[in-house]
Amino acid sequence: MVNITTYITGGIAAYKAAIVVRNLEKMGHKVRVVMTENAKKFVTSQTFAALTKYPVLDDLWLKSNEAEIPHVHLAKWTELAIVVPASADFIAKMANGIANDAASTTILATSAPKIVIPAMNDNMWENPATKRNISLLMKDGVKVMPPVTGMLAEGYSAKGRMPDPEEIVKYVHDFLQNRQNLVNKKIVITAGGTIEAIDPVRYIGNNSSGKMGIALARAAADAGADVSLIYGNISVELPEDNNIHKIQVTSSEDMLEKVQEEFKSADALIMAAAVADWRMKEVADHKLKKQANQNELQLTLVKTPDILKAVSTQKKDNKIIIGFAAETNNLLENANRKLEEKGADYIVANDVSKDVFGNDEDQVTILQKNAKNQVWPRMSKQKIAQKIIDLLSNQL
Ligand code: CTP
Repeated sequence: MVNITTYITGGIAAYKAAIVVRNLEKMGHKVRVVMTENAKKFVTSQTFAALTKYPVLDDLWLKSNEAEIPHVHLAKWTELAIVVPASADFIAKMANGIANDAASTTILATSAPKIVIPAMNDNMWENPATKRNISLLMKDGVKVMPPVTGMLAEGYSAKGRMPDPEEIVKYVHDFLQNRQNLVNKKIVITAGGTIEAIDPVRYIGNNSSGKMGIALARAAADAGADVSLIYGNISVELPEDNNIHKIQVTSSEDMLEKVQEEFKSADALIMAAAVADWRMKEVADHKLKKQANQNELQLTLVKTPDILKAVSTQKKDNKIIIGFAAETNNLLENANRKLEEKGADYIVANDVSKDVFGNDEDQVTILQKNAKNQVWPRMSKQKIAQKIIDLLSNQL
């Protein structure tokens, strides 16, 4: 059970924080509360003092009998800090290290992990300044539980609404469960497609968006791993997280080089990238021009290195290697062959014939040598990533 400090800042959603506090206590956590002056315009500190049986910290200059200054003492006591609801103002203060009241000063003095749960008007949420501040927080390793679309205090439905207390409690619970599993482990994850040049302006690419690999990187970082994310061509945003070291590559040969380098000091590799199978035998050094009356073009392609196979063959120790199999037909037969031929410990097989590229959901089957296949139901790529990381944590 964990010492959780709950920060309540100004916003109509502040009343929901009482349910969050009560449920966290029910789960056995010790909870203390810090409130801003604006939060007290929406809910009273007595509510939270009664719930936690502990005085609410809302004044930086409070006299105390304790030898230590109250906010420093609370910062040290904290094992997890959650800000619920987090106003745009408080997010801005946190992102910029401003400490001018009890709440902002205490959170700045806290080295424990932090979860921020924003709630605000949709225009405030969409404002570039808020977006910039959220991205700064995420870069600093703060977890942000995004607001949902729903009825706002203004009387219309838009994005900015705080998730329900039950969902917040579940998020906190999952965070606490996952965060220790991969501490001190290094995981190499590849994402996106490789690009094989044809000439200076054209290339051979593929439809991979990088979503799965990036979801895996986030899930591994959430579990405390030190992640090397080696990514090619992607069409989604890269994660901002201190635990994720991002390495951009272009071709399959670049990717092989970086994977081999990073894998030396790693505990596991997950090859979620869509690596091109063919590259130009010779890349033209000038733009290929059409000739008069030319109706066909023949390109001579040669095989690219099979990264998964190469690394699996060289693998020593108890390192774990997970590959993917993207198939449009004979899913299990082809995936099984890849498990055998490539020497991976696991293959995550998915049918890419319909609606997978760029989609948020997928359905996969996990293949492992000498074990029964696990058919997972259709779920979000984020959820699949979490389950793959759980599987990896159990093995490591
Ligand atoms: N892979 C790799 N290097 C390659 C090709 C694929 O490391 N040159 C990896 C992928 O990252 C994935 C696994 O091998 O983890 C299977 O990739 P997939 O595209 O499904 O299969 P291919 O090996 O390309 O085989 P095929 O084209 O016959 O489907």
